[in-house]
Amino acid sequence: MNETIAQLKQQFEQALVAAFGSELAGTDPILVPASNPKFGDYQANLAMSLSKKLGQPPRSIAEKIVQNLNVSEMCELPTVAGPGFINLTFKPGYLEAQLKSIQSDARLGVAPTDHSLRIIVDYPSPNIAKEMHVGHLRPSVIGDCLARILEFLGHDVMRLSHIGDWGTPFGMLIAYLREAYPDALTSPESLDLGDLASFYRAAKKRFDEDDNFKEAARLSVVQLQAGDEETIRAWKIVCELSNRTNRKIFDLMGLSEKIQERGESFYNSLLPGVLEELDKLGMLVEDDGAKCVFLEGFTNREGKPLPLIVQKSDGGYNYATTDLAAIRYRVNVDRVQRVIYPVGMEQTNHFAQIFQVGRRAGWITEKTAFDYAPLGSILGEDGKKLKSRSGEAARLVDLLDEAIDRARKDLEARLKEEERQETPEFIDHVAKVVGISAIKYADLSQNRTSNYIFDYDKMLALQGNTAPYMLYAYVRVQGISRKGGIDFTQLGADAPIVLKEETELALAKYLLQFDQTLEAVEADLLPNRLCEYLFELSKKFNQFYDRCPVLQAEEPLRTSRLILCDLTARTIKQGLSLLGIPVLERM
Ligand code: ARG
Repeated sequence: MNETIAQLKQQFEQALVAAFGSELAGTDPILVPASNPKFGDYQANLAMSLSKKLGQPPRSIAEKIVQNLNVSEMCELPTVAGPGFINLTFKPGYLEAQLKSIQSDARLGVAPTDHSLRIIVDYPSPNIAKEMHVGHLRPSVIGDCLARILEFLGHDVMRLSHIGDWGTPFGMLIAYLREAYPDALTSPESLDLGDLASFYRAAKKRFDEDDNFKEAARLSVVQLQAGDEETIRAWKIVCELSNRTNRKIFDLMGLSEKIQERGESFYNSLLPGVLEELDKLGMLVEDDGAKCVFLEGFTNREGKPLPLIVQKSDGGYNYATTDLAAIRYRVNVDRVQRVIYPVGMEQTNHFAQIFQVGRRAGWITEKTAFDYAPLGSILGEDGKKLKSRSGEAARLVDLLDEAIDRARKDLEARLKEEERQETPEFIDHVAKVVGISAIKYADLSQNRTSNYIFDYDKMLALQGNTAPYMLYAYVRVQGISRKGGIDFTQLGADAPIVLKEETELALAKYLLQFDQTLEAVEADLLPNRLCEYLFELSKKFNQFYDRCPVLQAEEPLRTSRLILCDLTARTIKQGLSLLGIPVLERM
């Protein structure tokens, strides 16, 4: 409907100019979807806002606009209501033609953008000296979804994982590698370090029990930062082990294969240049031996301007320095036009600060949008951050495994009840898709900025705005084609679409709003809008299917309704795939 809205806007502009003169060219008609279908489909609210400017009552302004408005191809006669709302209702014939055109369109009416941007989505960006935990769930799932949607809309998307792969936490792991695997550096081929979790645990044990080991770990950090060759090789081995472990989790979660690791270490050699430039710009101030930039609008407890330390007094650099280097690199070398950081809310200040320094240094200009997309936390039933039994942040892989496990139990119970026999492969596959999708969907369907309580029962429920519900909705629509022995792909390309019943019209209109939904997600980076859309779509489909016979209907209604079924199934499938969720043909 994007195209339709654009045309309506144009018609409003012409009507305004015709009624009140050219100084009103460019006025926004303030078109919004009608709040209630009895007012039509769209409502233009501009008359109220023009009243003062034109010195006329809004109702009479609205009437004059309507007299000059030429939308008869798309809409029934516009009406003026209340203080001056202009109500628009699409003609069934217009909707039929629109639907007809998306029937043959693999993109379901979502036109690729004509202002394609190079966009970096910075995710999931874990710190890799440790295993991924619950805190990485939201960046992974939301980052992946945003990247998919932006790419589908026609942007050139880079998925960069700004992994924490440098500094102090690696000392312990490097020291342990040296101690426990003395041959690691000379013959890395024969090396089997197992998984990161057990490697980390063993290293931590040594660290806690032995002061000499602690000293070795500290020394390793110094050597690493000094660029000692052998230490760098050991560090690389540890990074590879981590990345391998994380990749397995990415695979299990079905994250995009296009994620590239470009971690903190990548920017090491660029850090002195960042300082040099800040210095040249006169932004660098020495404070207590540390090099800082004094921030505008941030003060410490005594009300004094807050310094952002970019180089510590011992010469070391910070998380912020690396992010500044990344900003500069992304602008100057990657030549991006938009960077999106889906990162936990607790980093709000960090991003405000580095963006400020980036702007003042002239790296961030109006040519590049730097968007921090803050994420709320995942809570346990006690309302506190989700913990594992041992009191640490819950391991991500444990959450995923548990969801799959529960999905399997649910499925097995249902199969028993329905006296159905399925192969072990089928059960494995369905349990995995349902379990993982449930976690992802539960996360995506919440407003990105809110905290939510992690609840397996809720996310795995077949009712409500959940992944299982949506997966079922797809299976059910597909079931119609199975039941009627119909190949959806062979539905007549020239069969007419006929919209008669109210529920049928409502479904048709909603199907046409897919493109607007995706555009809204692009604008405000809120994937929950897509979840809401899909949920509402399947409800509208159910209402239609309750009221309108499909397989039993006479032609041309029968084929027309089958096309509506097919479009619904395809929209759900495409929508879920943009959320990072695959569909099941049976479940
Ligand atoms: N590694 C960081 C963490 O786990 C997140 C990094 C986010 N991206 C960034 N460019 N700072 O907290």
